[in-house]
Amino acid sequence: MTDQNALNGDPALSKILVSHDEISNRVHDLGQEITNDYAGRVPLLIGVLKGGAIFTTDLARAIDLRVELDFMAVSSYGSSTRTSGVVRILKDLDEDIEGRDVILVEDIVDSGLTLRYLRKTLLARNPGTLEFCSLLVREEQQGELDDLVKYVGFKLPAVWVVGYGLDVAQRYRNLPDIWEYDTSVGS
Ligand code: IMP
Ligand code: MG
Repeated sequence: MTDQNALNGDPALSKILVSHDEISNRVHDLGQEITNDYAGRVPLLIGVLKGGAIFTTDLARAIDLRVELDFMAVSSYGSSTRTSGVVRILKDLDEDIEGRDVILVEDIVDSGLTLRYLRKTLLARNPGTLEFCSLLVREEQQGELDDLVKYVGFKLPAVWVVGYGLDVAQRYRNLPDIWEYDTSVGS
């Protein structure tokens, strides 16, 4: 596995938090759940670039329905590991979502800032239904966010993670597993 190379070569990668096998199993289950929930419909999966790209394409293949795919790019962090508190749309949707069964697919919901911004923006376009699916949600963000994110892959402690789409300064997205990233070591 490429993870061996990453582990040997990169002291900032401290440990695997979610293995590729665990991710695959969970993605399969989420796909089945969505297949059941949307039976007879054609959901539009909107992947949030770039972090959600890998999860979105795996999830799409785990859904046994006709689905459509679209992507949006937003930025809330720049290149640091701290939120700027501002969300910007870098790439908007190609398709109109009016009347559609939209499922927005995120890599991680941290503070919920991005989620709330996207929810407001997309609801203003009158989708038929709108649900959120996030591979990761912070453990401490329970309560209100639990109600907003219908499909959750894993709950995660307050550590920075990379891999399976998630990055630090655009790197590590291609790791098959999700790793804890030691911000005091990384450059
Ligand atoms: P929020 O707006 O605070 O919920 O942040 C959401 C976005 O921040 C996610 O879509 C990610 O792009 C990024 N993010 C938050 N935590 C992490 C992390 O641990 N690793 C990589 N990206 C993260
Ligand atoms: Mg993101």
